[in-house]
Amino acid sequence: MQEQLDKLVEQALAGLSKVLDDQELQNWRIRYLGRSAEVGKVLEGLPKLPAEERPAVGRRVNEVKSSLEKAFDEKVQALRLQALERSLGEEKLDVTLPGLPPKRGRIHPSTQTMREIISIWAVMGFQVYRSREVETDEYNFGLLNFPPHHPARDMQDSFYTTDPEVILRTHTSPGQIHVMRERAPEPIRVVLPGMCFRHEQITARSEIQFNQIEGLAVGTNITMADLKGTLIAFARLFFGQDVRTRFRASYFPFTEPSAELDIECFVCGGDGCPVCKRTGWLEILGSGMVHPTVLENGGYDPSIYSGFAFGMGPERITMLKHGIEDIRYFWGNDLRFLEQF
Ligand code: PHE
Repeated sequence: MQEQLDKLVEQALAGLSKVLDDQELQNWRIRYLGRSAEVGKVLEGLPKLPAEERPAVGRRVNEVKSSLEKAFDEKVQALRLQALERSLGEEKLDVTLPGLPPKRGRIHPSTQTMREIISIWAVMGFQVYRSREVETDEYNFGLLNFPPHHPARDMQDSFYTTDPEVILRTHTSPGQIHVMRERAPEPIRVVLPGMCFRHEQITARSEIQFNQIEGLAVGTNITMADLKGTLIAFARLFFGQDVRTRFRASYFPFTEPSAELDIECFVCGGDGCPVCKRTGWLEILGSGMVHPTVLENGGYDPSIYSGFAFGMGPERITMLKHGIEDIRYFWGNDLRFLEQF
């Protein structure tokens, strides 16, 4: 029986040395260490042995088992090491090569300008209010005092949905109504940034989508002097303390009186150049005192409350600031343009 065991160990170890992969290793394990393993078969002969020989054989069997288990564990390690060496050899990795620098993303120039503008308004106490991009004709025009046949309602200017009452907003001003209806009769200081859409011919100067930042202040004691002082303060903070400004009378259905704010052309210093179209001035925003009808539509009694509103175009301001000549660059997704900011 001792002989049988010795032969078994010899045979098992010889088999193990030929094992090349996991599958073969599993087969070997089942054969020599499993429940119905060969060692077990040897043990079947145990009862036939004389009683005095049995303990020695039993011990020997245990030794055989543990030596085979040890051999198995070593083989597992060896196979792992082999696999590792093979993959290191095949998939060569040169850790001394310089890495590929990841491309850094950046903030879109419009977003940069919007953040800068918003942070100035924040300092002056204006909260950001996010209003919807899809509007009803009523909010976009009607409640803002556009007369029923105003040309801005023309199919040429608005993007309509299948529902003729539902359009993409053509400006951020409908947000004024939303804020007022939500806050009345509380005083309001908000800015409303966001995308607007107009069904227009795309040219170097006009896009079918563009951002606006609307501003709205409503209270019991707000005058045109507040409008002028606040907007001039903004212009100085944004364009520099020495910037010269002027208000030019204008017209919007939802403000009365209305005025546009110009700043002195920073390209030519007011002498006249192609950027300011030889006028020496750059138009930067539309503004006015909130029309009494609009206050009323927002839920504020115009005999007690007044307010001012303004709207500016961040793309236009970015173009002026950086001398960008074509508005189409903004949504063209050309990295050569975007990477300059
Ligand atoms: N909504 C106007 C426009 O799109 C701008 C504006 C806003 C004018 C608020 C006055 C007051 O041109």
